Amino acid sequence: MRVIVEPDSSGVSRTAARFVARLVRHKPTCVLGLATGGTPLGMYQELIRMHRDEGLDFSRVVTFNLDEYVGLGPTHPQSYRYFMQQNLFDHINIDQRNTHVPDGRALDFEAYCARYEQTIEDEGGIDLQVLGIGGDGHIAFNEPGSSLGSRTRLKTLTAETIRDNARFFGSVEQVPRLAITMGVGTILESRQCLLLATGEAKAVAIRETVEGPVTAQVTASALQLHRDVIAVIDELAAARLARRDYYREVERAQELLEADRGE
Ligand code: PGA
Repeated sequence: MRVIVEPDSSGVSRTAARFVARLVRHKPTCVLGLATGGTPLGMYQELIRMHRDEGLDFSRVVTFNLDEYVGLGPTHPQSYRYFMQQNLFDHINIDQRNTHVPDGRALDFEAYCARYEQTIEDEGGIDLQVLGIGGDGHIAFNEPGSSLGSRTRLKTLTAETIRDNARFFGSVEQVPRLAITMGVGTILESRQCLLLATGEAKAVAIRETVEGPVTAQVTASALQLHRDVIAVIDELAAARLARRDYYREVERAQELLEADRGE
């Protein structure tokens, strides 16, 4: 896993946006996997800025979001569809028909989840999957104990996740108990993963993800099995990593290689 440590969260947002933008320029028909939550917000703002100021073109890009709360429709202010419209889709030139967010009000969830997987496959698979991480090490809503081979399905949220997300709903009682989420196995099939983390509340989860054993108790640790993961994190989230100095050395070497290649 490549680990890039930025001084602060705005550095994380800019670096993450650069990776996404590089792909969109290189492959205008790329398939992006997107995440919600507080962490990727700054990256979305930077992508909107690049669209406005630099003409970054999303017209042929296809997107798939990781998850959605069960029971919330697209106009519910806490739904992830609403989040994506407000924070990205309404501000760039993406074709709305190419944006996929799981439907939290699907009637037959089993059939719906299978179809979501099939649609990803029909679009050629995800080129770059953006991921946040939960304080308990979850990716998407793959809570501790999720099978590392899991596919898109319904998942019961843990008390910790419900508590973490209550800040958006006003109270713990209003947070849905179920979500539809891509599985760990689904995520591992994307060609590249971009894991973002900021703040000290993520420091333990990041240590376990990057330097701990691969375990279903920390579903992000499954990323160690993926061939191309870039973790972009700030100093606070990196605080508990034992091999920070080495990751810096690797990045210095990487910069020299890229300068040589004129990137
Ligand atoms: P956050 O959520 O970005 O709001 O911290 C991350 C997650 O729970 O996956």
